[in-house]
Amino acid sequence: MKQSSQTDMIRLLLNDRKKRMFKKEDLPKMFSKKETKKARHFHMSFDNYQSTPLYSLDNLSKALGVKKIFVKDESNRFDLNAFKVLGGTYAIAKLICKKMGKDIEEVDFNYIKKHAAEEIGNIPFITATDGNHGRGISWAANQLGQKAIVYLPMNSAKRRVEAIRETGAEAIVTDVNYDETVQIAIKKAKEIGGYMVQDTSWEGYTDIPTWIMQGYTTMGMEVIDQMALQGYESPTHVFLQAGVGGMAAAILGLFANVYKDKLPKAIIVEPNAANCIFTSAEINDGKPHNVEGDLKTIMVGLACGIPSPLAWPIIRDFSEMYLTCDDAVAARGVRIFANPLKRDPKIVSGESGAAGIGAFSIIMGLEDLEEVREVLGLDENSVVLFFNTEGDTDPVNYGEIIWNGKYRMPIKE
Ligand SMILES: Cc1ncc(COP(=O)(O)O)c(C=O)c1O
Repeated sequence: MKQSSQTDMIRLLLNDRKKRMFKKEDLPKMFSKKETKKARHFHMSFDNYQSTPLYSLDNLSKALGVKKIFVKDESNRFDLNAFKVLGGTYAIAKLICKKMGKDIEEVDFNYIKKHAAEEIGNIPFITATDGNHGRGISWAANQLGQKAIVYLPMNSAKRRVEAIRETGAEAIVTDVNYDETVQIAIKKAKEIGGYMVQDTSWEGYTDIPTWIMQGYTTMGMEVIDQMALQGYESPTHVFLQAGVGGMAAAILGLFANVYKDKLPKAIIVEPNAANCIFTSAEINDGKPHNVEGDLKTIMVGLACGIPSPLAWPIIRDFSEMYLTCDDAVAARGVRIFANPLKRDPKIVSGESGAAGIGAFSIIMGLEDLEEVREVLGLDENSVVLFFNTEGDTDPVNYGEIIWNGKYRMPIKE
C-alpha cells in the first residue's frame, strides 16, 4: 500500500484468526444475555440512572461517505465523565453479594448501600488507574460510605488526581508507568488486606475483572435498544478503543451473543506507544504479548502495555481489524467531535474517547486507503458505531487541542 504522511499516522492489520462462522458454544459465556441483563438491571436501580445519549452524526456521515455514524456518548455517565464507573460499581456490588450469599438479581443499589458497611467493615478498596477507572471506584466507595486508595502512574494530569480526591479517596501518584503502578497497588492491598478492585486480570485474579467487564456491557445493551428505536437492527462496523482490552472484549462479547452471525466488523484502536493488542496480533501465535516503555501518549486511558488475559481471546476471535495510531489522530478526533458539521450535535471527548473517529476519518478521507475501505466493506451502506468513552477528563490538554491546535496532523501533500 502506498504511504503518504497522513497514512503513516495509522497502522492496520487484518485479523486472520477471526472466527468466520461460530457455534453457540463459541460465544463468550460471561457476556451471555442472562449475565449482561443482570448488570443492566443493577445499574438501572441507581437513583441517577439514565441511558447515555446515542447521537447520530448525519452530516458527518454524508461528508465521510457512509450511511450512518452513531456515537454512544459516555462523557456524562452517572454525572462522572467516563464509562468506567459501570464496571467498578458492578464489581463492588457483586463482591458484596458474594459475601452475603445473594444473587445480584435479588438486590438493588440502595440495598448494597445499606449493607456495604456491615459486610466490608472499614477494609478499603485499592486500585491502580490512569484516571477513569479510579474515579469510578472512588465514587462507588464514597456512595457506599467506604474508603478507597487509588494509585496513578507518573505524569498523571492534575485534574484526574483531584477528581479522585474530591470523592474522599486517597490518591497517590507513583513515579512509574501504568503496568508497574498496578504492581504497587497489588503489593499495598496484600500488605494491608484491602480489596484489590482492578480492571485487568492475571493468573488467579479473574472474578473482579470479569464483573468489571460485565458492568461495561450496560452501555452496549443501551445502544442495541437505542438503535432499534431508530430502526437499525445492528451496526455494520464498530470502532473499539483498547487499553488492556476489557471494554473492547465486553462489547464484542455482548455483540457476539446478541448478533451472532451478523456480528458487526470490529476495529480495535490503540495508541502507537501502548499497542499491546496490536503487537499480540502481529506476533500471531494466538497468545497475548506485552509492550514495555513509558507508554507515553495523550490517550492516557489506553496507555497499558499488558493485555488482560480474559479480554484477549475474545478480541482475537471476534474482531476484524487492529489499528494503532499516533497522538495526532486522537487529537483530530477530539476536534471532529467538538466541531460538528451543520446541525450535528457537538460532543465533548477526551483523547481516548476520540481515537476511533480520528482514525475512521483518515480511513475514509485518504485516496491511498481505498484498499482498506474495500477490505472492511466501508461504503455508503455502512452504519458505523463509536463509543465516546470519556469527556474532557484532562481539561488542560483538551484546551490545548481545541484552542491551540496542539498535536496537529501533518499537512496533506
Ligand atoms: C476513556 C477510556 N476509553 C477506553 C479505555 C479502555 O478500556 P480497557 O482498558 O478496558 O481496554 C479506557 C481505560 O481506562 C478509558 O479510560
